[in-house]
Amino acid sequence: MDVDGQLLDLLSDGSFHSGEALGAALGVSRAAVWRRLKKLKKAGLSIETVPGRGYRLAAAIQPLDVEKIVACLKVPMDVQVFRQVKSTNDLGLQRAKEALRSPVALLAEQQTAGRGRLGRQWQSPLGHNIYLTLVWPFEAGTDLKGMSLVVGLCLAQVLQDMGLPSAGLKWPNDVLVGQHKLAGVLIELAGNLELNPVAVIGIGINGWLGAHERQMIGQPATDWLSETGQPLARNQCVARLLNALAQALPRFSANGFAAFLQDWQQLDVCAGKPIELVRGEQRLFAVARGVDADGGLIIETERGIERVYGGEVSVRWA
Ligand code: BTN
Repeated sequence: MDVDGQLLDLLSDGSFHSGEALGAALGVSRAAVWRRLKKLKKAGLSIETVPGRGYRLAAAIQPLDVEKIVACLKVPMDVQVFRQVKSTNDLGLQRAKEALRSPVALLAEQQTAGRGRLGRQWQSPLGHNIYLTLVWPFEAGTDLKGMSLVVGLCLAQVLQDMGLPSAGLKWPNDVLVGQHKLAGVLIELAGNLELNPVAVIGIGINGWLGAHERQMIGQPATDWLSETGQPLARNQCVARLLNALAQALPRFSANGFAAFLQDWQQLDVCAGKPIELVRGEQRLFAVARGVDADGGLIIETERGIERVYGGEVSVRWA
């Protein structure tokens, strides 16, 4: 492991460590420790400095660990962890070109160009959050309508099971707690969609967000630590997610979204609420009426009931 990785490990317990102790553990000078900490802080790690006590993280972190993740998987899977990438989905899109026969899970401690839906950025600071891309090859001819909702459902259910029963879904696949976004999904398709479709399934979960990230996000956001008071057990969470997806995606291939419709509706936070739907230049006010068996959003407008398959929903909560 390189020095930055060792430093991350040493700080991960959330306790104070003096510059001297860190330097001794790493075999470098205090000045070198300070320079590296400055770099890690710039990368988004929540390092606090208290004169006389040393350095600590605002919240303990669980460094990503392939062995710990793999040990909890119910089905063997290729899992790879990177310190820093531009975007795990970019990496996934590359892998998808390599005539992949079995799924690969790609994780990073930090993304320098994390991508969200609709061309947005995804704030991806170092160390606290989950940036996961699962590259999943489907059988030729699989109908992928509604797949992104299945992924959102797995994500919300895992977060609920891990101690956040209030996690809910906003169409198509945002995970909200109350009115705040905790996690999101970006799915990109690769390969020949008829012959060898490959889904590049990107999942981002906020474990901890600093003031800078919150300001950059520009919409109400939350993180696991604020909601539960506990640091996110990232390895466990990733393993549970991969297990859930490895079970759900074959079921989806066989039965479509219809098999998940009821479970999805139970977590739907929009149903019955007035919403604004933005599709490109078009804005539409409506009442959300759940989803259909293809994963489309059912809306009620003055014109009656309609179904939409793309766009961004904002809920008018008041
Ligand atoms: C959204 O809600 O806008 C989707 C967010 C998806 C973020 C994840 S993080 C891992 C993967 N890599 C990316 O660049 N984006 C997705």
